[in-house]
Amino acid sequence: MYHILKNPEQIAYQVSQLLTQALSTHPDLHLGLATGSTMKPVYTELIKQIHHQSLDCSRLTTFNLDEYIGLAPEHPQSYHYFMKEQLFVPLNIQTEQVHIPCGVATDTDQEAAAYSQEIEQAGGIDIQLLGIGTNGHIGFNEPGTPFDSLTHVVQLSDNTRIDNSRFFESFDEMPTHAITMGLEDIMRAKHIILVVTGAHKAQVALDLYESEVTPQMPASILKNHSNVQVFLDEAAAKLIIEKYGHELLAANS
Ligand code: GLP
Repeated sequence: MYHILKNPEQIAYQVSQLLTQALSTHPDLHLGLATGSTMKPVYTELIKQIHHQSLDCSRLTTFNLDEYIGLAPEHPQSYHYFMKEQLFVPLNIQTEQVHIPCGVATDTDQEAAAYSQEIEQAGGIDIQLLGIGTNGHIGFNEPGTPFDSLTHVVQLSDNTRIDNSRFFESFDEMPTHAITMGLEDIMRAKHIILVVTGAHKAQVALDLYESEVTPQMPASILKNHSNVQVFLDEAAAKLIIEKYGHELLAANS
């Protein structure tokens, strides 16, 4: 389950290899996408490998994890905007191929319910990319989220608002709510890839490693999935290595 690599670039390379292999054998891949700074090197490398291998992305379908409520797709801090800039425009992925919850829907609960159905009707997600919040959230499933949750509206925790406000001009501009795929939607993906990088993620990486499967550590639900890979760079794995050593990690990989 755990793979420790030197730095974010090496992880980006490995993850992109996995994705391009999948895409070359299944051009109609259903890919679950994540946002956040962790994903930037992954998308940069993925674009490079896709272009290098001249892979066809025209039959790809994408499903993003989440979106802030109140941010229109044109808002520079919206996840729609992030994805366009980081991946969709460079790969010429068309709007029809893309699914992201709409943060400015009139009825956000209805939007959320429809999103889970859309995923199911499309036949589910083949590979889901994930990052992790410093409190263990995946998507925007904050600690305490029920494991059987489908896509839903969430009130963001203070921890998440503080972490993510770095992207906004001021803390007040940071949204208070989001729509996120639920833990159940995420767990239905056939293959899950969690990427954890940077020294600021070392504590949550250790917490996840040590955690029993509990809603208090949302990412711990991944331990119940039969096909999950967790990629850590050395900075994020530091506390785990200090406490448990490489051998134990090798046994878990
Ligand atoms: C946000 C996203 C998550 C992401 C997390 C970590 O909260 N909703 O999907 O994993 O940020 O972000 P970063 O990669 O910037 O640390």
